[in-house]
Amino acid sequence: MRFHVWISVLLVVTLAGAAGCRKHAETAKGDPLLTAYDTEVDWTDAQHVIPLSYEQAQGKRIFYQQCVWCHADATPAGPSNRSNLTPVPPLLNDGATLNAESDEYMLNIVTLGGTAMGKSAMMPPYGRMLSTGEIRSVIAFARAIAQPSYQPPARAGSQYSAK
Ligand code: HEC
Repeated sequence: MRFHVWISVLLVVTLAGAAGCRKHAETAKGDPLLTAYDTEVDWTDAQHVIPLSYEQAQGKRIFYQQCVWCHADATPAGPSNRSNLTPVPPLLNDGATLNAESDEYMLNIVTLGGTAMGKSAMMPPYGRMLSTGEIRSVIAFARAIAQPSYQPPARAGSQYSAK
């Protein structure tokens, strides 16, 4: 009789424990912010926090070191230089402009600079300063924060453009 009571207690404790664990795992899985490496507050909506993958988080770090001065309106040091430039560079989250550009075009203009791609010479070449992986991570960050949001091309081949 006593033995049975103990078995029941043990069962209840084990089941409760298992249920607890499962519940915990579900919460972590359900909320991408809990598993993100970093986050970025949506530039167009302060209530919206965007979770960043490891690669996107690396891109964010590089963006705030190299690009923020011309591709954002506010910088860690105050207002940016952006509005003084002609043509005015697109904000990095400008999906209306950048969503239409392929990853390869973005990689090329950041690596080679504006002149090489028929754009303003005010866009510096970063090929000697940043690795291809680092440049790809900035592009990944741009895609993550894009408004309207970025949809990757449906076919792998369609990302290559002659632009
Ligand atoms: C000194 C200012 C400056 C800095 C710093 C700078 N850019 Fe630019 N960027 C520009 C200008 C100016 C353009 C060209 C706009 C045009 O010709 O329409 C441009 C263009 C671009 C474009 C192409 C946009 C398009 O519509 O074709 C991308 C992508 C870009 N920059 C990304 C970056 C990244 C990533 C960094 C940092 C690694 C960076 N830029 C740093 C000024 C800058």
